Amino acid sequence: MNKMTTTKISPRIELCEPDIGAIEKKWVANCIASGFVSSVGPMIADFEQLFAAYTGARYAIATASGTAAIHASLRAIGLAAGSSAIVQDLTFVATANPVLYCGAETVFIDIEPTSWGMDPRLLDAVLARLKREGRLPSVIIPVHLYGGACDIANITETAARFGVCVIEDATESLGAYISGKHVGTFGNMGCFSFNGNKLITTGCGGMIVTDDRKLAERVRYLVNQARDTAANYIHSEMGFNYRISNLAAALGIAQIGRIEDILEKKRLIADRYETDLKGMPGITPYQRRNGIKSSHWMNSLLLDSRKERDSLLEYLSLNGITARRFFEPLHKQPYLKSGLWVTGSSDACLAKQGFSDDISERGINIPSSASLNIHDQNKVISAIKSWTCHAKQTYSCSSDQEIQPRKKAS
Ligand SMILES: Cc1ncc(COP(=O)(O)O)c(C=O)c1O
Repeated sequence: MNKMTTTKISPRIELCEPDIGAIEKKWVANCIASGFVSSVGPMIADFEQLFAAYTGARYAIATASGTAAIHASLRAIGLAAGSSAIVQDLTFVATANPVLYCGAETVFIDIEPTSWGMDPRLLDAVLARLKREGRLPSVIIPVHLYGGACDIANITETAARFGVCVIEDATESLGAYISGKHVGTFGNMGCFSFNGNKLITTGCGGMIVTDDRKLAERVRYLVNQARDTAANYIHSEMGFNYRISNLAAALGIAQIGRIEDILEKKRLIADRYETDLKGMPGITPYQRRNGIKSSHWMNSLLLDSRKERDSLLEYLSLNGITARRFFEPLHKQPYLKSGLWVTGSSDACLAKQGFSDDISERGINIPSSASLNIHDQNKVISAIKSWTCHAKQTYSCSSDQEIQPRKKAS
């Protein structure tokens, strides 16, 4: 791709920027004026109630981050040294790290090539095997990736048959529904992130949802230094300072109030990509699935090979466009390699290649900010078409911006 001309684009088009405006500024200013900027303040409970109402969960407990939410949830269900957790192989490391914080072991399960989520049939087989060996795990952690949804109904049904808890990592999929039910509300607990790049942001922050009152009380206790009600500084066990601040909650209230507006902007962006990139050779956009309402947090494409993925990433970068490769599968992370890895791919024995490896090697996320304007999105689309034109030689190009189907040789 060295000889290719690049279209100069300035300023850079980012992957996923926060959508923060006047309403957010007003809420944050009010919070500062109130003096309650730390982990005590009325906006935290308000934010939790709004979040519970939005997701349809009975209880919502705000945390300092999505990672803290997962860790506190694992502690609440009792994950500890000597036990294990089944974790989806294709995800960010923050899904698995809290398992290690608890001193437990990880078992990585491959994804389905369609949903990019944990394969429920594989889960069934692995649970049967671990049960026979007398070492059933304490918890299963499926992940809803990139604004989409895994097959959580079958995962929870399988988990229930074996009597194992499910904690959903829904950190990337606020606003996504399966048959009208919000992701994160299928398992025993669901975890969300409000990091700066997420659908809504509180700067840093997270949320745990559950319908189980005991788990809700337990997790609220753990995230608040395991503080007993009496102010005597006696703590019967170790807790964590995983609380969200009132200042962050102020931002959260403003953002959750605008969530439908943000989701609609994301939907329009996704529709435009889908229409304009349809039929591009060598580029497969994420397939929409029946019954799933994605939040379109990220717009994802699959290339034909790792080489083409790297080439497109480099080309977009040279053109001032930030895109990102998919996560590296957990079983390949240097510090996690010793964990048990289970794949359903028939390539696995020979090539050490599961579906998570394949999707990870070929996937990229392209600019998806709710604030992405049509002008910038057209630049992204043109750059992708231009790259395709040069890389695949399937189209003849009059310029980098205008691409015509190549005429068939007579
Ligand atoms: C899949 C996944 N799990 C967990 C997390 C952790 O969330 P946070 O960054 O809020 O700690 C993230 C966020 O980046 C994520 O993408």
